Amino acid sequence: MKSVSSSLTSSSNAIEHRCDVLIIGSGAAGLSLALKLADHCQVIVLSKSDRNEGSTRYAQGGIAAVFDEQDSIEAHVRDTLKAGGDLCEEKAVRFTAEKAKEALSWLIEYGVPFDTETTESGEERFHLTREGGHSHRRILHAADATGEALQITLNDAVSVHPNIHIFERYNAIDLIPSKTQKGHCTGAYVWNRQQEHVEVIRAPFIALATGGGSKVYQYTSNPDVSSGDGIAMAWRAGCRVANMEFNQFHPTCLYHPQARNFLITEALRGEGANLCHADGTRFMKKFDERGDLAPRDVVARAIDYEMKRLGQDCMYLDISHKPADFIVKHFPNIYRKCRSLGIDITREPIPVVPAAHYSCGGVMTDFNAKTDLENVYAIGEVAYTGLHGANRMASNSLLECIVFARSAAEHILQRLNTVTYEEPIPPWDESQVSDSDEEVIIQHNWHELRLFMWDYVGIVRTDKRLERAMRRIKLLEQEIHEYYAHFKVSNNLLELRNLVTVAELIVRCAMQRKESRGLHFNLDHPNQIEDAKPTVLKPKGSKNECTVGSLTT
Ligand code: FAD
Ligand code: SIN
Repeated sequence: MKSVSSSLTSSSNAIEHRCDVLIIGSGAAGLSLALKLADHCQVIVLSKSDRNEGSTRYAQGGIAAVFDEQDSIEAHVRDTLKAGGDLCEEKAVRFTAEKAKEALSWLIEYGVPFDTETTESGEERFHLTREGGHSHRRILHAADATGEALQITLNDAVSVHPNIHIFERYNAIDLIPSKTQKGHCTGAYVWNRQQEHVEVIRAPFIALATGGGSKVYQYTSNPDVSSGDGIAMAWRAGCRVANMEFNQFHPTCLYHPQARNFLITEALRGEGANLCHADGTRFMKKFDERGDLAPRDVVARAIDYEMKRLGQDCMYLDISHKPADFIVKHFPNIYRKCRSLGIDITREPIPVVPAAHYSCGGVMTDFNAKTDLENVYAIGEVAYTGLHGANRMASNSLLECIVFARSAAEHILQRLNTVTYEEPIPPWDESQVSDSDEEVIIQHNWHELRLFMWDYVGIVRTDKRLERAMRRIKLLEQEIHEYYAHFKVSNNLLELRNLVTVAELIVRCAMQRKESRGLHFNLDHPNQIEDAKPTVLKPKGSKNECTVGSLTT
């Protein structure tokens, strides 16, 4: 295909676009894939909002890879397995750790401005920071705003490539199953938010790069776009999902009425900050011998426990014992943000609370990032590759985005020109629907869902709370389904429909796990079982299966 084509199909009056690869999502995963493909084919990248809006942009700490001579791939693998609560797929961990340096070098060639330092012998090298679970300094970063540096660099490169076409404010609704080839999709229905109508994008290859679903919780570090759309779409299209019970809660989000979703990076603890009560008493050693640098499932639970035990609204993170110029140099973004809210982090502790942060589970893929569907890939936070197990180690997520985007690109390029779908696509039928008359129902259901997920399916769970949550989810599903069938789609309705599916998948997985491991802590099953396995959910009637932790061709 020489260029992306768009046409008005006469049968349905729907606009139809064609490309070689449709990438849904413009974060680190989607843009990396686009850049790796675009010299060879025509790519459309969809972004539900502004092209730079997604979790990537807000990442602070950095990206993990072995750059220090004292460190080793073996140590990176060991730390990831340990943080993952013995539930990672070891082959996936090894695959990612081995490819980390190459992936980072690719980013460095594109010009991502990772911080450097000069050694005593005058040698220039990358400054490596440390975060929970890592036994070495291993994290490349751009001060405390790594995600922004990464997103801007990738977006700059993508914006000047003639074969990459970014469609902003386009919300993918559903994948379109092929009528002639089972287990394949012909494209996607997408909602043009500006024009407020549905269009079709036809493509022989589709990649979901839609990020995670932490928006399903009332309190989250994530931006609004993180509503788990790709997970829900893939599930509806027949893909298996795994380990949805392991939603990660970041221990330290800023607690302040005017600070919406603002994270305080774990790198602060990596550089010596301590968690404490309002009176300065430190408490982490009570919970784990690694103290403030324990993995985040342990730290989030400890903070939650102390807040509930003492009836406090927050705990505190204190770095004020470090020199002020060190703090301002390493954490300029956090320093500025806190200062703007009247908190001087060089002199006083920062009020913090845990918040939903990362979906460790997702759409199952193999090492090529291919899902159970033959021509559909899933990369980045939307995917379950086996890397994170029961708890993702800090800074392994952006790494996974880049490593798996690169392997997906290689696989797609090998298969390019082998697949075409010329069959007619069923028109989007809006003849039976009308404009929504009661937006309040959608708003109410949004709030209700996110609140009970926080209260019943949060950091500490019980069987009863999970059952309660499931009963409410079933009611909401019914209501949302009826609403979806009768009214025109809108962004809020599409997200709510996906969020309730994500909620159901989380609770179903949580109900299946009769133990406490990593991020899943259930008071009725406080111990670990032997020989624990990932929780895999399979949609009714689906037959195709990718092999997690292996290369398929
Ligand atoms: P995202 O960057 O979230 O992008 C998702 C994209 O999909 C967006 O463009 C969105 O518009 C689009 N999209 C979603 N649904 C649809 C739809 N239906 N139709 C069209 N487009 C859609 N990880 C690390 O490794 N290191 C860190 O230091 C770090 N810090 C973090 C700090 C914060 C505050 C947060 C929130 C996360 C952090 N993470 C970190 C996690 C990491 O940033 C994310 O896991 C990663 O950026 C996900 O990238 P992605 O490309 O998969 O998705
Ligand atoms: C952080 O900077 O604390 C977030 C790192 C991550 O989520 O990997």
